[in-house]
Amino acid sequence: MKFEGTGNIEFNELYRDLSMRYTAAIKEISTKLEVLDIEYRLKHDYNPIHHMQTRLKSLGSIMEKISRKGWPMEVTSIYKITDFAGVRVVCNYTDDIYAVESSLLRQDDIKLIRRTDYIKEPKESGYRSLHLVVEVPIFLSDRTYNMPVEIQIRTIAMDTWASLEHELKYKKKEAMPEYIAEELKRCARSMAEIDATMQRIHKMY
Ligand code: GTP
Ligand code: MG
Repeated sequence: MKFEGTGNIEFNELYRDLSMRYTAAIKEISTKLEVLDIEYRLKHDYNPIHHMQTRLKSLGSIMEKISRKGWPMEVTSIYKITDFAGVRVVCNYTDDIYAVESSLLRQDDIKLIRRTDYIKEPKESGYRSLHLVVEVPIFLSDRTYNMPVEIQIRTIAMDTWASLEHELKYKKKEAMPEYIAEELKRCARSMAEIDATMQRIHKMY
């Protein structure tokens, strides 16, 4: 497989090179978040981050996304992808999400590219999470690159819902029936209520 505009550079080679750069970007972001979590633990005797997951988009997913977006199969399209590197941050409480966000965004070397708050405005499916696309510099032997990283920040409840809904959606070939989609939306609302209650309890105690 060869992408247009790569000249004699094999596309696989480009993917390998980009993977290395995005792996470095994921490490930068993960370390920043781990440091914030450690500091918070020390100051408040409490960890805002329950766990983190990271992923690099596979070659197959990249090609699938380019064709889904109707972009041409060429190198410029790869550079339009801002979720090549993904970091998912699962927090205990809703307030932790915004605390993690502001602590990260105040850092001098982090540039916010895009912010979508699917908690304030959930998606039609019921999906909730805070999405950030940030740019972080990585320092290689001969130059510095600013790499975009997609960060999804959510509570444990939001994460549970998203992973089960994703499972259900992709298990079947056909579109999800309306009554199932409605049940899932109801479920997402109940989980949001539980999150709010847990947050109140945490503040009280
Ligand atoms: P993509 O082209 O898929 O990246 O979508 P987008 O650029 O419009 O971004 P969006 O913020 O809508 O979603 C990006 C990611 O958020 C997805 O890859 C999922 O991980 C997650 N996501 C968004 N919507 C849903 C949803 O309805 N259900 C679940 N389970 N995950 C979702
Ligand atoms: Mg996206």
